[in-house]
Amino acid sequence: MTHAAVRAARPATARASVLSAIRRGNATTASASPSSALTTRSWEYIKVSLSETGKVGIVQLNRPKALNALCSGLFHELNDAIRTLDNDPAVGAVVLTGLPKAFAAGADIKEMANTHFVDNYKSNFLGHWTEITQARKPVIAAVQGFALGGGCELAMMCDLIYAGDNAKFGQPEIKLGTIPGAGGSQRLVKAVGKSKAMELVLSGNMWSAEEAERAGLVARVFPADTVVAEAVKLGEQIASYSQVATQMCKEAVNKSFELSLAEGLHFERRLFQATFATKDQKEGMKAFAEKRAAQWTNE
Ligand code: CAA
Repeated sequence: MTHAAVRAARPATARASVLSAIRRGNATTASASPSSALTTRSWEYIKVSLSETGKVGIVQLNRPKALNALCSGLFHELNDAIRTLDNDPAVGAVVLTGLPKAFAAGADIKEMANTHFVDNYKSNFLGHWTEITQARKPVIAAVQGFALGGGCELAMMCDLIYAGDNAKFGQPEIKLGTIPGAGGSQRLVKAVGKSKAMELVLSGNMWSAEEAERAGLVARVFPADTVVAEAVKLGEQIASYSQVATQMCKEAVNKSFELSLAEGLHFERRLFQATFATKDQKEGMKAFAEKRAAQWTNE
């Protein structure tokens, strides 16, 4: 299927919400890729599109009636889409976004309200939520509106967060008589430090986009209606580099969450040394010396 055909086949609302974002990307013709099928598939809870170049996958959470509450069906669709985009050699980065009013208002309270410990334990409830953290391609969260509870946690599972100036971040589980269950007591601490994380988790209050940026949770804040476009623009930039190098960058930065400084530095140095076995490192440094743009082969 040609890219034009894929664009034409996209649902109108999905086109409208991401069109301005797509237009900011470099307009070249993308050949059909495994991800093209995602854009025409009939989804219940998400929408999937590709940037004009076909190099950035855009996944939009789309459950407006429940402010994108993260029901189990939504997560299965999300995992499916991210997995396919991640495995598509034509795609270099992914943007995960929501709706203007809500990135996601958390786990689906109504779905889980009457579940019980033993069943949750046996089924490893929420276990499948972390699949997105296994993606090798960079995933950028573009957050507008509420990112609460599981919504904030999902944004933190991405590699970085761009926020619209209407974004609100919080871990309000305490108000429901429970606690964060997908990283709000762990990733948040790594992102903003103990004191700020403790305040958010214990108070159930919300941070504005500005506060979240000041705390280091968010990389940048943009006017709300441009945040998806800005995320796609960054995705295009990332996708213009060697996929081997971007994958290694992401792996090295994420390892810093898990390892001691000495182990992390060791891991980083080994990966750095390993890049010298790649064609892209040879090409990148040769192109620099020859004052020309590098032609990456992702090898
Ligand atoms: N689960 C299920 N449904 C939700 C939901 C959620 N997390 N958040 C919102 N909704 C539903 C509402 O029930 C409502 O549905 P109805 O029209 O059928 O009543 C609809 O979405 C619109 O919501 P509101 O009328 O409440 O909208 P509002 O603008 O007045 O308030 C809000 C917005 C402040 C986000 C409010 O909806 C809210 O507080 N939501 C819950 C936020 C929350 O507690 N999240 C944490 C969930 S627990 C969790 O995520 C655990 C974890 O760590 C994994």
